[in-house]
Amino acid sequence: MAHTVAVIVGSLRKESFSLKIANAFTKIAAPSLKLEIVTLHGLSFFNQDLEATPPADWVAFREKIQKSDAVLFVTPEYNRSIPGVLKNAIDVGSRPSGKSSFLGKPIGIVGSSPGPLGGVCAAMNLKQILPGYSGPILQQPEIYLNGVGDAFDDKGNLVKEALEKVLKTYIDAFAAWVDRLKK
Ligand SMILES: Cc1cc2nc3c(=O)[nH]c(=O)nc-3n(C[C@H](O)[C@H](O)[C@H](O)COP(=O)(O)O)c2cc1C
Repeated sequence: MAHTVAVIVGSLRKESFSLKIANAFTKIAAPSLKLEIVTLHGLSFFNQDLEATPPADWVAFREKIQKSDAVLFVTPEYNRSIPGVLKNAIDVGSRPSGKSSFLGKPIGIVGSSPGPLGGVCAAMNLKQILPGYSGPILQQPEIYLNGVGDAFDDKGNLVKEALEKVLKTYIDAFAAWVDRLKK
C-alpha cells in the first residue's frame, strides 16, 4: 500500500524553486509514495489566544498532516534560518501541547538555494526545532541543493540532470525508510 507524504513547501513565491523541487519529487518518486504538496498560503499566524477556538485553516492544516504517513519539508533558507511562514506552520502543527500533528511521522528535510550553500542552515535549523514535536528524522542521505537557479525551464520542468539524480537518490532512500518504519 502506498504511503501518503505531506510535502510542506517553505516558500509562498509563485516561481518558488522549493515548489518546483517539490513538484519534481512528485514526478520521480516510486509508486510506494503518494506525495501531496502542502503550501502555506492563508495559514493564519499562530496566536495562543485562538487555541480554544482554532481558525478553520489551522484545523485543515493539522488534518492534512495527521492524515499523512510521513512529512517532507522542502524549504529555502532565509537569513540563515527557515522562512517565517514555515516556522509559523510548525508552531500551528505542533499544538495543542502534547498533541502535535507531526508526532510519530517520519520526517524528511530538503534544503535548497540558488546560492552556494544549498539551504544547509535552514535544514539544520529544522533538525533543531522538530525533534520535540515529530517522529524520527531521516539523517542519511543528507540533501542540500545549491545552484538551483538554472535547474528548471520556464514551465517549471527540471532540466538539470545532475540535480534529478540527487533528488531520485534521496526520495528512493526516503521511500525505503518510510516503508520500513510504517510496515
Ligand atoms: C529574506 C531573504 C533572506 C534570504 N536569505 C538567504 C540565506 O540565508 N541563504 C541563502 O542561501 N539564500 C537566501 N536567500 C535567497 C533565497 O535562497 C532565494 O530567494 C530563493 O529563491 C528562495 O526560495 P524559493 O525560490 O523557494 O522562493 C534569501 C532570500 C530572502 C528573500
